[in-house]
Parts: sequence; C-alpha cells; structure tokens
Amino acid sequence: MRSLIRGAGSAMPQRVVTNEELAGRLDTSDEWIVERTGIRQRHIAGEGETTGTLAIAAARAALADAGIDAKKIDLIVLATATPDNTFPATATKVQAALGCSGCPAFDVQAVCSGFLYAMTTADAMLRSGQATCALVIGAETFSRILDWEDRTTAVLFGDGAGAIVLEAQDVAEGTAKSEGPGILTSQLHADGAQHDLLYVDGGPSTTQTVGHLRMKGREVFRHAVGNLAQVLGDVVAKAGITVDQIDWVVPHQANIRILEATAKKLGLAPEKVIVTVDQHANTSAASVPLAFAAARADGRIKPGDLVLFEAMGGGFTWGASLVRL
Ligand code: ACO
Repeated sequence: MRSLIRGAGSAMPQRVVTNEELAGRLDTSDEWIVERTGIRQRHIAGEGETTGTLAIAAARAALADAGIDAKKIDLIVLATATPDNTFPATATKVQAALGCSGCPAFDVQAVCSGFLYAMTTADAMLRSGQATCALVIGAETFSRILDWEDRTTAVLFGDGAGAIVLEAQDVAEGTAKSEGPGILTSQLHADGAQHDLLYVDGGPSTTQTVGHLRMKGREVFRHAVGNLAQVLGDVVAKAGITVDQIDWVVPHQANIRILEATAKKLGLAPEKVIVTVDQHANTSAASVPLAFAAARADGRIKPGDLVLFEAMGGGFTWGASLVRL
C-alpha cells in the first residue's frame, strides 16, 4: 500500500504587503530584505481571514484539483502553529465546512516542518489501513504572532495555506522501492535542546497570552543548512536513488540563501529547486504545499516526476519526504 498525491490547492489572503510598504514603518529597506532573504512581498490576512478560512479554501481547491468529493475524505491532518483557537483543532473547522464529519481530524504542531510531520502521519495511517483518502493541510497566519516593532523578524513571514489530497492505493507486486507513484520514504527529526533559538514567548499554560515570535536568525540559519543537508542525504540513501534522479525539490521557503546553500551541499542543480519565497515570504507550515501547488499548477511538476519535500523549523524540527507523482 502507498499514499498517492491526487491533487493540490492553495489559498492566500487578499492583501499583498511589499517590502517598500514595510520600509515605511520599520527601519529597513527593500534592498536589505531582498539581499538577505530573497523576499519581495508577502500576503497578510485581513479582517475575516484566519488560519481556518485559508485552510478551508485551500482544501476545497485541492479536492477540486483531485476531482474528489469531500464525502470521500476519511482523515484530515492540519499543520499549524497559529490555530484559530487554542482548541478545538482547526482541522475540525475544516471538517465541518466540508461536511465530512465523523472521520478523524486533528492538528499537528511542528512549526515550519509541520506539513512534513502531517504528511508523514497521514501516510502512516493510510498505509496501515486506518483511512483511505486524506486531506493534508498546512495553514498559518504568522502575521498574528509577529512583533511588528521588531525588524529582524517582521519582514520575514507571511500568511497562507496549501493542501494536498492523499489516497491509499495498492502497489503492483515487484515494484521497486523507488518506482511507481506515491510517498516512497520519509524521515522526521526534532532537537528540543534548541528551543531558545526560535520560539514564541507566550502560550495558554505560561503567560495566558498568544505571545510573539522570537528568533536568533544567524544561528537558525547555520543549523538549518546542516540539518537539512543531513536529512536529505539520508532520505536519498534510504530510497536507493542518486541525487541526479531527483526532478524537483520543494523546500520550506524560509530564505533563498538557505535554499541555495542546501542545494549546493547536496550537489543539486539550483534550477531544480522550486522557489516561492520571493512572493510568499516564510509561511511556516503552509510554505511546502503552497510551493508544490504553484509548481504543479504552472506545469513544472508533472506526473511521474520524483519530488523531494523538505523543511526545518522551530523546536528544532526538520524532515524530508521523497514522493513520485
Ligand atoms: N532591515 C535592516 N537591517 C536589519 C534588519 C532589517 N529587516 N534585520 C536585521 N538587520 C540588521 C541587524 O540589526 C544587524 O545590524 P548590526 O550589524 O548593526 O547589528 C545586521 O542587519 C545584520 O544582522 P544579522 O542578523 O547578522 O543578519 P543576517 O545576515 O544573519 O540575516 C536573517 C538575518 C535574514 C534573519 C538570517 O539570519 C536568516 O535568514 N536566518 C534564518 C532564519 C529563518 O529563516 N528563520 C525562519 C524560521 S526557521 C526556518 O524556517 C528554517
């Protein structure tokens, strides 16, 4: 049994905020932001737009792309660090909106690696027969946990949601580990000892406030490149393929320099890396499915392609997944 990606979709807040606009209220510039991060603009949620509304729109788009009715969905896993409410899970809001109540629906919290954690969890449930057709969503409104006075973090993030539909399917007997469609292999990691490098300084059980994102950017950068290169190497080895067999890498979109440095360390051609950080900034758990949906919609990622997903985020958490479309 394997989990196949049947469709993908995305949703962005209406409002686009450019670097110039931010430079009007913070001591920063378009030049600094583009040079250090590759970010040119981000979408910021307005009134009535929440993680839940974006997730619902992305889920609907993914179902339409897959040509699958919501009634067929028997599992919803939603990755977010910015849920609509402390509880219940935002996944249950999506479930109610789609009218598929009854099946399991829960949130996964691994910050920027959340989508990899959610996809790997859904894949395990599909392969073990606990579900047959899953919605996996990454949705965030990081604008609501940013300290808008802090130029070192406020310029880096944006809001949005991406979703995929995963369906369980038997694999033909004799299919090689790296052949045939579906999720071929995944690997997840966490290192809780690095908590202080990237965290939110609030929460229900500590301050009873939502809190703001705090980050030691330079140290995060250093860990990100090392951790990602290691997990990507492991996944490639586990699948029994060589790096040049990979058609596309869909990375978490944090910073163009992290994407370039990781690709270089792995010996991967830069033109195989899908980049949306310039348009979306860092949308945490939403960034991988957003980039995937964009590259699928514009025809770059095609059926049969071998695609490597990867992400790293607060915790630290990191992971990678190799998928044949
Ligand atoms: N505009 C202008 N100047 C700024 C800004 C800004 N927005 N932010 C910081 N600066 C200044 C600093 O104050 C500092 O000034 P100083 O030299 O006078 O003290 C100078 O720029 C350099 O600051 P650094 O933090 O050393 O800059 P760096 O080159 O490391 O770039 C950045 C900062 C972009 C945050 C980088 O470290 C980075 O991308 N780190 C990865 C963090 C990340 O992506 N986190 C996302 C979550 S984790 C993940 O997704 C992988």
